[in-house]
Amino acid sequence: MSATPRVSRTIGFICALAATSVADGGVSTCQEPDDQCSLQLSATAPLRVAIFMTTHWSTMHQEFMPCWETARQQLTLVRNADLILYTSGDVGSKDLEQLHFTNLIVKHYEPANYEEGAIQAVVDGFGSKGHQEKWFDRYDWVVRLNPDVLIMDDNWLLETMGNSSVDAIFVDCNGTMNSDFFVVRPQVIETNLADTCTDGSGDTIAGSAEKHLTCVVSTIISSGRYVWVKGGQNIGGCRVAGAESPVVHEHGFRKCCPNYLSAQANCSRVPVKHRHKHRHKA
Ligand SMILES: *[C@@H]1O[C@H](CO)[C@@H](O)[C@H](O)[C@H]1NC(C)=O
Ligand SMILES: *[C@@H]1O[C@H](CO)[C@@H](O)[C@H](O)[C@H]1NC(C)=O
Ligand SMILES: *[C@@H]1O[C@H](CO)[C@@H](O)[C@H](O)[C@H]1NC(C)=O
Repeated sequence: MSATPRVSRTIGFICALAATSVADGGVSTCQEPDDQCSLQLSATAPLRVAIFMTTHWSTMHQEFMPCWETARQQLTLVRNADLILYTSGDVGSKDLEQLHFTNLIVKHYEPANYEEGAIQAVVDGFGSKGHQEKWFDRYDWVVRLNPDVLIMDDNWLLETMGNSSVDAIFVDCNGTMNSDFFVVRPQVIETNLADTCTDGSGDTIAGSAEKHLTCVVSTIISSGRYVWVKGGQNIGGCRVAGAESPVVHEHGFRKCCPNYLSAQANCSRVPVKHRHKHRHKA
């Protein structure tokens, strides 16, 4: 466990318990605490998760990919997830192999601008196309993000995803749902709304993907079965940040790849006071 300083506190506790009970039970050795932990984990946290990553494969997004290899190594949420890469770019097999996801599914869409890509991902994934092609049938949860939205800490996210009263996790962006990062039980989204919501999809201004998503998840909003990302706030253009936020959309963090989770990387979570420094989305 030495390489996983960010493993959830809850899980650390479970592992400690598992190791203790092995000792108490008089089993001769406890040489492989990691195995005990993974056994215990699969019994207690069998969430099936897809990371649904959308990218136009810009140079900047590519620069973030080494961080995802680190995330897969160090964060339980990412390590146990399948990656569904939804891209308009020409992603090479070498790029993909480097990520080492056990299950990696690549889906292509026609090149579009940033906002259209974000909208298209929601329409295709959660609408009748995704429904018919069973994109998310085997998952309890879908984590929708772009490569430049990094998960800093998975404790709170995993804990919340384990809560049967919660169907979705959002970041508020000025009264709409931030589309760069959200987590949802896919079965709860109404296919029909994903197909028919046009709010925002004709707009060219920043924020149209947010309006669109807000329409698509309107039944979740009215059910009240969602929570806001703890500590998540926005810096210019609906990008999630915050000193305590478990996810951060900060373009400068690509300089910290691959080892963005180490203290030496100096990529601490951005306090929201930086809000006027970076206005651009994408
Ligand atoms: C689960 O989520 C609900 C709704 O947000 C909350 O009231 C409840 O305290 C949560 N349960 C646990 C065990 O965290
Ligand atoms: C937030 O919403 C209000 C009211 O809809 C609007 O006037 C304001 O410009 C918005 N602010 C940003 C940063 O988008
Ligand atoms: C992080 O900041 C410390 C102190 O300012 C500095 O010594 C170190 O070189 C920085 N590390 C990186 C990787 O930039």
